[in-house]
Amino acid sequence: MYTSLIRPLLFQLDPEKAHYVATALGNTLCSIPFAGPRIVQRHAGKWPQLEQKLSGITFPNPLGIAAGFDKNGDYTDLLRFIGFGFAEYGSITARPSPGNPHPRLFRLKKDRALINRMGLNNAGAEAVCHGIMKQQRQRPELFDGFPGGINIAKTHDPYITGDDAIQDYITSYRFAREPAAWITLNVSCPNTTEGKTFEDKMALKELLDGIASERKDSDPPLLVKFSPDTDQSTIHDLVTICEDSNIQGYVLGNTTTRRDGLRTPGEHLEKIGPGGLSGSPLFAGTLQQVSYFRNMLPSERILIACGGIDTSDKAVRLISAGANLLQFYTGLVYEGPALINKINQALIDRLNETGAPSLKHLHQS
Ligand SMILES: Cc1cc2nc3c(=O)[nH]c(=O)nc-3n(C[C@H](O)[C@H](O)[C@H](O)COP(=O)(O)O)c2cc1C
Repeated sequence: MYTSLIRPLLFQLDPEKAHYVATALGNTLCSIPFAGPRIVQRHAGKWPQLEQKLSGITFPNPLGIAAGFDKNGDYTDLLRFIGFGFAEYGSITARPSPGNPHPRLFRLKKDRALINRMGLNNAGAEAVCHGIMKQQRQRPELFDGFPGGINIAKTHDPYITGDDAIQDYITSYRFAREPAAWITLNVSCPNTTEGKTFEDKMALKELLDGIASERKDSDPPLLVKFSPDTDQSTIHDLVTICEDSNIQGYVLGNTTTRRDGLRTPGEHLEKIGPGGLSGSPLFAGTLQQVSYFRNMLPSERILIACGGIDTSDKAVRLISAGANLLQFYTGLVYEGPALINKINQALIDRLNETGAPSLKHLHQS
C-alpha cells in the first residue's frame, strides 16, 4: 500500500513538505484519545526473541528511527504505532535554529537516496527536552517499553567555536540528561556553515573532557555518532580517545559528503549542491565500519548501525557483522513502515534457522 499508493502521492510534493504532511497526518491519527492505549498495545511484546537489554536499557526490538526524523520529539505516537522499538530524537542544539534556507532536502530516486542540508533546524535543547519530559509525565505509558535517546549537536552558528562550542554541547547535555534513555554526541554533522566537525583528535578530546566534567553516575549512557567519511586510521585514534572517556557505544554513522558511484547524473547532483547523502549508497560503508568496530571493541559496547538499511537482507548482514541495534531514515521514505515488520520477521527467521538464542549470538554468523 505504501509503495503503490502513498509513496507516489508523497513524491508529488517537495520532500520536506512530504515529511511534514506524512508525519503530521500519521501522528494526528495515532494520537486521537481512544486510539492511544491501542497504539501502545499494538506491538507490545510482539517480538520477545528480539528484546535486548543493553547498558541497562531494554529495547523491545532492534529497529529505531535515526536522528533527524523527529528533531523535536513530536512523533512518538506515530513511531511506536508503526513498530519501531526505539527513537533517537534530535539533533537538538543549545540554541533554537531555523536551519538552512529552503530547498534543503532532495530525492535521488535512481539511487534510493536523499541529500539534505537541513542545517540542524530544531526548537532548541530546553524547549525539546521540556516537551519530552512533559509527555513522559502526562503519558508515561507511551514511553514505557519504548526507549528514546537524544542526539545533541553544536548550534548551527559559525561564530560559536572553541570553548563556546563545548559549552554549547554541555548546555544541551544538561537539558537532555533527564528525559533521555541515552545521549548521542553528534560530532559528524556535515551541514555546518564552518564545514567543520568534531572528528579531529584535539577537538574530540576537548569535547569529551568537557562532557566528562559534567557527567554524574546517574546520567544515561553516552554514545558518539561518527561520519562514514573518516578514514580508518583517524577512526582508530578517535575511538581510542572515546574509549578513554567512558563511552558506552557508537552510532555508525551519519550522512556522507561523497558522491561517487551514484546513478543520478552529475548535472543533477551539481544543481542540488552541497549536503549529506543518505540511503542505499551508504550500506557498504556501514557494513565495513560495523565489522571494524566490533572487532576492535569490547563486546559490551553498543553498536548502532545506521546508513543505507532498506531491505531485511541488509539488516541481517549488519546484525551478523556485530551491530546490536539498527536505525534508518531514508529506508522509511522509500519503503514505508512495512520495512520494520519485514526486518523484524527476517531476524526472527535467522534466529530460528541458526538456533541462536538472541541477536548477540548472531554476531559473526
Ligand atoms: C533529512 C535528514 C535530516 C537528518 N538530520 C540529522 C540530525 O539532525 N542529526 C543526526 O545525527 N543525523 C541526522 N541525519 C542523518 C541520519 O540520522 C542518518 O545517520 C543518515 O540518514 C543515514 O541513515 P539512512 O541511510 O537510513 O538515512 C539526517 C538525515 C536526513 C535524511
